[in-house]
Amino acid sequence: MYKDKKVVFSGVQPSGVLTLGNYLGAIKNFSAFSDEYKCYYCVVDEHAITVRQNPAELRRRTYETLALYIACGLDPEKNTLFVQSHVPAHAELCWILDCYTMFGELSRMTQFKDKSQKNADNVNAGLFTYPTLMVADILLYQTELVPIGADQKQHLELTRDVANRFNTVCGDTFVIPEPYIPTNTAKIMSLAEPAKKMSKSDENENAVVRILDSKDVIIKKFKRAVTDSGCEIARGEGKEGVSNLMTIYSAFTGKSDDEIVDEFNGKGYGDFKLAVGETCADALAHVREEFDRLVKDKAYLEDVMKKGAEDASRSAARTMSKVRRKIGFTELKG
Ligand code: TYM
Repeated sequence: MYKDKKVVFSGVQPSGVLTLGNYLGAIKNFSAFSDEYKCYYCVVDEHAITVRQNPAELRRRTYETLALYIACGLDPEKNTLFVQSHVPAHAELCWILDCYTMFGELSRMTQFKDKSQKNADNVNAGLFTYPTLMVADILLYQTELVPIGADQKQHLELTRDVANRFNTVCGDTFVIPEPYIPTNTAKIMSLAEPAKKMSKSDENENAVVRILDSKDVIIKKFKRAVTDSGCEIARGEGKEGVSNLMTIYSAFTGKSDDEIVDEFNGKGYGDFKLAVGETCADALAHVREEFDRLVKDKAYLEDVMKKGAEDASRSAARTMSKVRRKIGFTELKG
């Protein structure tokens, strides 16, 4: 049915309440592909367990992330929305591709270095081979395009390298995917430390706008956003805070930098921060309302999960059969 459609795949970890960075860098862009591509959007729960999770919380966040996908405009009739652990082929292909991924390659992954520093008491093998699971996620569906934020670029480069290596050693098997990284919103920065990426796991709540924060909370966080000692609304050296706010404002209003500078000419940071906060909160209000409605309907979410897993499994099975043949595994007949 989708034979002539190219494939888009992306995933989000259910490891915390999703942020404005996840929204502007990734999820907001997902629905633009739904008509032209066959889209798989996955809740990657297997990735989340590389750091310790509370089981009840992980389960709840998995439902919530799925509800959020739909609340952000992903229609389950037009997109395959599913949970990674419901399709065991992800873990199976990951093992096979671990044997085509080099120790040196994984050692160079900056996210591994960051996360192993942050979780020094639990530097498990899963944390190390996590990028190969991401490689497997993508290659399993013969993906052409992967919408992601800038922090995932290195993992995409690894995906291409592993796919090329496998194709060279075993013969043509995988489509080589391209990243789709948005030009302006690829890296939304922390509101408290604008030199750092806005991250789900930041311990300082004022640094992170959550997609589901109330209007008041969003405005309060923007009012507290760190800027600089100047008063000019412009980008430039030492103005990372203001620059980040301009990026966010532009993402929601479609205004260019020049238009923003004109709009706030003669006004101070206070007015600007308030405008960014209000615009962001208003734009997310609909997502919040939809989420509140959907998250109560567990039966509906389970139905979406089930259909998504069935659809994804069918496609994964085709790739797995090809992979098994190419590497020389025997197949049970009949
Ligand atoms: P995760 O769950 O950390 O983030 C989900 C998506 O949000 C993007 N993102 C950001 N974009 C802009 N600014 C930010 N501050 C920001 N923070 C996060 C991420 O780049 C990502 O696109 N390993 C992945 C999940 C994954 C995946 C995959 C993605 C697993 N398998 C296959 C694509 C394809 C991750 O941890 O994303």
